[in-house]
Amino acid sequence: SMKFKTVAIDGGAAVGKSSVSKECAKTLNYMHVDTGSHYRTIAYILLDKGIAPSLGEDAVSQALKGVEISTLIFGNSARMSVGGKEIEDSLIRTDKVNQNVSLFAAMPQVREFLKGYQRSMEGVAKEKNFAGLVMEGRDIGSVIFPNAEIKIFLDADEETRRKRRANEGISDSISKRDALDKNRKTAPLVRPEGSVLIDTSNMSKEEVIAKTLALIAEA
Ligand code: CDP
Ligand code: CDP
Repeated sequence: SMKFKTVAIDGGAAVGKSSVSKECAKTLNYMHVDTGSHYRTIAYILLDKGIAPSLGEDAVSQALKGVEISTLIFGNSARMSVGGKEIEDSLIRTDKVNQNVSLFAAMPQVREFLKGYQRSMEGVAKEKNFAGLVMEGRDIGSVIFPNAEIKIFLDADEETRRKRRANEGISDSISKRDALDKNRKTAPLVRPEGSVLIDTSNMSKEEVIAKTLALIAEA
């Protein structure tokens, strides 16, 4: 009855993926992985090396060759580290990263670089004796784990999402990022086949968490 479950949580910017994923993982003793932080970390590292998205895919590919990724576990969350060093949240949630991350994430070389790593997280969660895995992102149910036991697609109207992000005191052009994420060729943001849609516009965080926990229990 305690079957290991993989939960895929996808959706656009500021729909509530992180708050819901983290809380569900904690409640169920599942391992939590935020793949948005992976793309943000890669964007930060590349920008720090002086590589802008406009330099193109070959320059990005070349720069990625020297990037060594590994994993650090903090409580229920597995965090990607680079060169054995923890990359702090304050470094990857800047305006500059917000403005560039989707441009890097549209590059097939960047997605390929992270895909194997993200898929390996199921094995890590099992090895660390977690009861399951909750992974959030844009393409988890569609590309990374198309066979996940449960797929959830979170949505909320744009006004609500803009307000939520503004309440965090972060300047972030979420509609621009969403447009880039939906329109790219490789692994675009889509509602995955077989996913349950939750519109969180008029739901509290607690309500979304309760609904998600119920769906996981049924799966
Ligand atoms: O927190 P927020 O929802 O604003 O964004 P995020 O989840 O941190 O993701 C940052 C960016 O990474 C997204 O806008 C996408 O461009 C990219 N991303 C992606 O392409 N695929 C994923 N699985 C996760 C994030
Ligand atoms: O990970 P993602 O960018 O999708 O969203 P988040 O960081 O979990 O949530 C964005 C903001 O919306 C946070 O400040 C949450 O507290 C808030 N939120 C909310 O007000 N109501 C919800 N149902 C979910 C999140």
